[in-house]
Amino acid sequence: MTSILVLNGPNLNLLGQRQPEIYGATTLAMIEERCVSHGAALGLTVICAQSNHEGVLIDHIHAARDDASGLVINAGAYTHTSLALADAVASVALPMVEVHLSNIHARESFRHHSYLALVALGQIAGFGAKGYDLALDALAAHLEVAQP
Ligand code: DQA
Repeated sequence: MTSILVLNGPNLNLLGQRQPEIYGATTLAMIEERCVSHGAALGLTVICAQSNHEGVLIDHIHAARDDASGLVINAGAYTHTSLALADAVASVALPMVEVHLSNIHARESFRHHSYLALVALGQIAGFGAKGYDLALDALAAHLEVAQP
C-alpha cells in the first residue's frame, strides 16, 4: 500500500486543551486515529509523527524519502518562520499538502505567510480536524491510488 506521513509540529500535541475556541476539542491522538482509518479507506497506509523541535521534524521529512509517497504537514508556527522545513520538503521531492486547523488567512497578518506553501501541492486551512481527511483525499487523488 502507498504510505503517507502525517506530520504535526509544535504545540499540536496539546490539541484538545490548547485554545479550543480556535483549534477545537479534538485531540491529536483522535486526529491521528482518524487519519489512519480515513487513509485505509483511501488505500493509504498512514504513519503519524509529531515534534515540538524543528530539527526533529526535518529528520522525519528526510526519513519519509524511504518510507512514504507523500506528506501531510501541519507545521504549527514553523509554517510562518521555517525556510529549513520548506527546504526539507523540496529536498525529498515528495508531494505535500499543508494543513491548518484554523483559517490562517483570517487571523493575524504574521500568520498569512507560509514558507511551506512554496513547496506544497496545496493548502487546506480552516476546516478543523476534517482538514486532515481533505488533505489525504487530495494526496490520494494526486497519487491516483486505487481505493480498496
Ligand atoms: C496552526 C496555525 C498556526 O498559525 C499556529 O501557530 C499553530 C496551528 C493551525 O493548525 O491552525 O500552531 O498551524
